[in-house]
Amino acid sequence: MRLDKYLASLGLGSRKDVKKMIKGGRVRVEGREKISPETSVEPKRDKIYADGVPTVYREFVYIMLNKPKGCVSAVYDKKYPTVIDFAPEEFKHMSLFPAGRLDIDTEGLSLITNDGALAHRILSPKSHVPKTYIAELDGAVTESDAALFKRGVKLDDGYVCKPAELESIGETTARVVIYEGKFHQVKRMFAAVGKNVLSLRRIGMGGLSLDESLAPGEARELTESELWALENK
Ligand code: URA
Repeated sequence: MRLDKYLASLGLGSRKDVKKMIKGGRVRVEGREKISPETSVEPKRDKIYADGVPTVYREFVYIMLNKPKGCVSAVYDKKYPTVIDFAPEEFKHMSLFPAGRLDIDTEGLSLITNDGALAHRILSPKSHVPKTYIAELDGAVTESDAALFKRGVKLDDGYVCKPAELESIGETTARVVIYEGKFHQVKRMFAAVGKNVLSLRRIGMGGLSLDESLAPGEARELTESELWALENK
């Protein structure tokens, strides 16, 4: 990997910042006389110092994206942009993938990582990590819809959903919490009570909430406490 890419991936600054650091002689790679931003390094093996402090290779990265409409939850797509296209440049070389899928027309909280074990833990059907959505509907949510969601909605294929929480928060706006992740689940749950979802936005996963200061298409790394909350709150 290029030295500037490596340093930027540690959060030491933008590619421009770290290039300046390298050119200013603030970076040292053990055993190399001359280095430049393009110098190729092997981060797990090379001893790399920034301002005299040894850098520690970071294996995993966790990114929150406010997914915009029109992109797909995939690593690669022939036709549409993917959520990975919106990840910060400095992490794009780190084998990122989306932990969970949102439909192309769904917005909101999307987690992008390269930590397969974490993704498995939060996505496994056994994990029951709550996912919270705001749905805009073509009709008002009734008490009986909420009661049915609580008992378990039967989908078009006969599958009976796990109990979910449904709360009306506006005339035709509802907050839904589900504990599983079937294909088009929220849309199909509403279809089962005769309503169409006009727009859908995910705002929470486990104890992690969407940072509302991120505009659609903006992404940032999770903080330590957000990463903890994802699985523990
Ligand atoms: N349920 C849906 O129907 N779509 C999504 O994108 C997520 C949950």
